[in-house]
Amino acid sequence: MYSVPQFEEYRSDPLHALENLLNAQAAEAAKVRTETEWKEFRDRWLGRKNGIVTQLNQLWLKAAPPHYKPTVGENLNAIKPQIERLVEETLNRIQGGASTARLAAERVDVTLPGIRRPLGAEHPVIKTMNEMVGVFRNLGYSVEEGPEIETDYYNFEALNFPPNHPARDTQDTLFIAGQESKPQRDRLLLRTHTSPVQIRSMEKMKPPLRVVCPGKVHRNDAPDATHSPIFHQVEGLAVDTNITFCDLKGTLDHAMKALFGSSVKTRFYPSFFPFTEPSADVQISCIFCGGTGTRDGAPCRNCKASGWIELLGCGMVDPNVYGFVDYDPAKVSGFAFGMGVERIAILKYGVDDIQLFFNGDVRFLEQFA
Ligand code: PHE
Repeated sequence: MYSVPQFEEYRSDPLHALENLLNAQAAEAAKVRTETEWKEFRDRWLGRKNGIVTQLNQLWLKAAPPHYKPTVGENLNAIKPQIERLVEETLNRIQGGASTARLAAERVDVTLPGIRRPLGAEHPVIKTMNEMVGVFRNLGYSVEEGPEIETDYYNFEALNFPPNHPARDTQDTLFIAGQESKPQRDRLLLRTHTSPVQIRSMEKMKPPLRVVCPGKVHRNDAPDATHSPIFHQVEGLAVDTNITFCDLKGTLDHAMKALFGSSVKTRFYPSFFPFTEPSADVQISCIFCGGTGTRDGAPCRNCKASGWIELLGCGMVDPNVYGFVDYDPAKVSGFAFGMGVERIAILKYGVDDIQLFFNGDVRFLEQFA
């Protein structure tokens, strides 16, 4: 390890002494690898108390006789910046090495495949529901919505359900617990159909009125391939003067053609709902066998060989219902209809199990994107 020679040795050959010193520093600098080593190196050469530069002042400059001091001073002034520069360069070298290592660690392989952020897609049920709503919006209907938690009044009473109608039984309806202290009409339940929105719309608006009401409904059904305790409906209501069953037929025939194609036929079959009179079930000609009842020489399974598929309920608004909303049954008439969204989606897309809509399996859902 280098140590500063005495003044006499320096004086005998100053150039050689300076060269020795700089060579020694260069050799030490070359060994520095880490930041700790560098700090030691720095203090050894530039340390204020006992660094080599300080020693040079002590051993050479102070020891020089007065007339010789300027020459020694010049020499020291020339090499001090060189010593400092090498200390600085050494730090740069080791830090440069560290950043090279960091760069290597942070290297990005731009040829790797990117991170895929798949776009979400509309759920097939919502997609179908929007399509159904769109058909009626194009006919001038406006969209109305109502709460999923309803009162007995809106879900049943105002829709002319008699007090002991089977739909009011817990077998079919999911009731909110702890409602026993309330009068029957105020008790809360999960709406079993979107028809209560008919009542809410008529309370809110005077005739003429044309509304389409999409939404979620609930029934106390065990899930299987064709049943789900939660499903969706699209309800329609038109009330005006002189609305007839012909208007109902024309409207629904148009809607079915818009949803399933213009070659589809409709058939109205007598039915019953407490809030419509007369009531009908609408059937469409089977979209799988073209209404023939046979497919590939065998009986069509989708329509049980009948050529018809039952799709929705409808009817002329029962005059009793107008009594609940302050419409004059002598002046107005109207029709209503309600259809299951999943049922229509199942037919449109050829899905064989309603549960697929609710299981959340992306492999199923992404087919509709
Ligand atoms: N709300 C009835 C149901 O859920 C359907 C319906 C709506 C029937 C409107 C007639 C008129 O089955």
